[in-house]
This record gives sequence, C-alpha cells and structure tokens, in this order.
Amino acid sequence: MNVLPPVITIDGPTASGKGTVAHRVASALGWGVLDSGALYRLTALSVLRQQIDPQDAAAVAQVANTLDVVFHPDGILLNGLEVAEDIRQEQVGNLASQIAPNPALRAALLSRQRAFRTLPGLVADGRDMGTVVFQDAPLKIFLVADVSARAQRRCKQLIEKGISANLADLLSDMRERDARDIQRTVAPLIAAPGAHVVDSSNLTIDQTVQAILDLWSGVTG
Ligand code: DC
Repeated sequence: MNVLPPVITIDGPTASGKGTVAHRVASALGWGVLDSGALYRLTALSVLRQQIDPQDAAAVAQVANTLDVVFHPDGILLNGLEVAEDIRQEQVGNLASQIAPNPALRAALLSRQRAFRTLPGLVADGRDMGTVVFQDAPLKIFLVADVSARAQRRCKQLIEKGISANLADLLSDMRERDARDIQRTVAPLIAAPGAHVVDSSNLTIDQTVQAILDLWSGVTG
C-alpha cells in the first residue's frame, strides 16, 4: 500500500501567527514546512517586477507556472536573488490577496504545494491547506485571532524589523484582506470540515504550539 506522508494543515487569516506556529510545530516533530502564502507572495512580487497587469489572469498564472524559486534554510531565492524580506512587504501581501482568487493561478500552484509532502511529514500553512490542497490531512487546524490582536502583532513585527507601520492603516488593510480572502468563491478562507478551531488571541506562541502538538498526539493515539 502506498501511504502518503502525514500532513498537519494550519489555515487562518493573515497575521494569526500561522507561520511561526507552523515552524515551531514542524521543528518539534522534525517535519518540513510549507508556507503556501509565500508562493502567492512570490507570484505577486514577480507580477510587480515584470509589470504584469494583475487583472490578466492568464499572464499571472503563467508567472506562477514558471516561478524559479528555491526555498533554503536561510531564505528564498527568486531567479537567484534573495527575496525573503521583499515578499513580506504589505504591498506584496495585498497584491497576493488580490490575485489569489484567480483559479488558473491556484491550479498552477497546486502541484508545487503538494510536492512539499515528503517524509517524515509536513506542516502546511495557508488558507486552503485543509479544504483543497491536502484534503486528506489527518489533522486540520483553523487558527484564528481577533483582528485587533493580529494588527498589533503585525505592527510590532514591522517596527522590530525597522519598517515604519501605522496601526490604524494595518487594521483597515487587514479587515479588507480578511473580507477578500473569506468572500472569494474560489478556495475561500474557511475552516475545513473536521478542522479544530484554535483561537490564539489570548494564547502565547508556546501555548498555541502545545495545543496543536496535543491534538496531534490525540490523532496518533
Ligand atoms: O499567509 P499570507 O499572508 O502570506 O498570504 C498572502 C496572501 O496569499 C493571502 O492574503 C491570500 C493568499 N493565499 C491564498 O490565497 N491561499 C493560501 N493557501 C495562502 C495564501
């Protein structure tokens, strides 16, 4: 029998802490990580750099199909250039969210995402990891946090990185992005059937990671 490597999916809105939590859960289990948002952000960055019209669905999908990207332990190379910081800019995240409803783009990224599923296992974070990409995942998490907690976290992160940030602007961008991610008809941000909803508004990262590891222990018995 051909048994696929296990996957834990962690879906949720922007700045819910998915990325940090996914990395910590993966390192506790000795598994790999897929930051699927990075693939949408890399596509958005390429669209910006190549001055492609974001409304041109076929051209955007073509960018995704031909992305020359290497994830390495210290960053991400796009066409051989380090872009790990560039893709974190708010402008890139917002464009990623605007192009994300494009079905041809999502189809182009599907096999790239599934290729991350290797032994001994994968923690995959995004919006549709449990609903579309890894529907058979044995553990699905929907990680939420209230929008003001998320905007405050994002503001703190940006300021720590020396990037200027305004809480009110972040809050309104985040509300707009949540609405777009939730309301789109293709792969909307929604808890997968059977997903465990974890609310991290009042949890530390350690507590959130532990909650997920406990759920995983429950799965493996
Ligand atoms: O997780 P993130 O903020 O890096 O993702 C950026 C955008 O990419 C997000 O607003 C919507 C899109 N995205 C998506 O549509 N599906 C995913 N699995 C991950 C991200």
